[in-house]
Amino acid sequence: MMCKRLTAVLLATLALCACERVDPNSPLAQRKAIFKDMLRTSEDLGGMLRGRLPFQASGFKDGAARLDALAHQPWAHFPKVRDGGDSSARPEVWARQAQFEALARDLERATGELVQVTAASPLDKGALKPPMDRVEAACQACHAQFRTH
Ligand code: HEC
Repeated sequence: MMCKRLTAVLLATLALCACERVDPNSPLAQRKAIFKDMLRTSEDLGGMLRGRLPFQASGFKDGAARLDALAHQPWAHFPKVRDGGDSSARPEVWARQAQFEALARDLERATGELVQVTAASPLDKGALKPPMDRVEAACQACHAQFRTH
């Protein structure tokens, strides 16, 4: 009797664990990890320009290069056919792929331009603001159409 109940509890616990664990190699987990990294990196760059963080030319330059590299990475982890799971991607990602791809290219172009501006020496904080604004606008333009929140 006791044993049966224990088994039931154990099985329920195992089932719960199986549901909650997300395979870190799944396309969903991989693109989410890249997006999170992109957010951290762009927040640091924006923070340096807005005075939330101390501005450091070399740190900004490295961050811009990192953001540009990351900006190319999420797209390969959107499978051709919509995947399930805890995704905040709208079905439009798959229904309007050409538009989605175009906005991905816009972001890549914006981060590329940001990197170009960081080649100047000495780095002028004021000159970095417009290209950084364009990067942030590229994130938002896509989220407004293709993300649920
Ligand atoms: C071309 C479209 C597109 C662009 C550009 C884009 N995103 Fe996203 N982003 C998405 C989609 C779609 C999702 C939802 C992914 C999912 O849950 O399947 C997402 C999700 C996210 C998430 C949530 C990740 C999570 O853990 O659920 C963050 C954070 C994020 N994006 C940050 C950014 C930042 C920062 C930029 C710009 C530097 C950016 N994104 C540019 C489409 C885009």
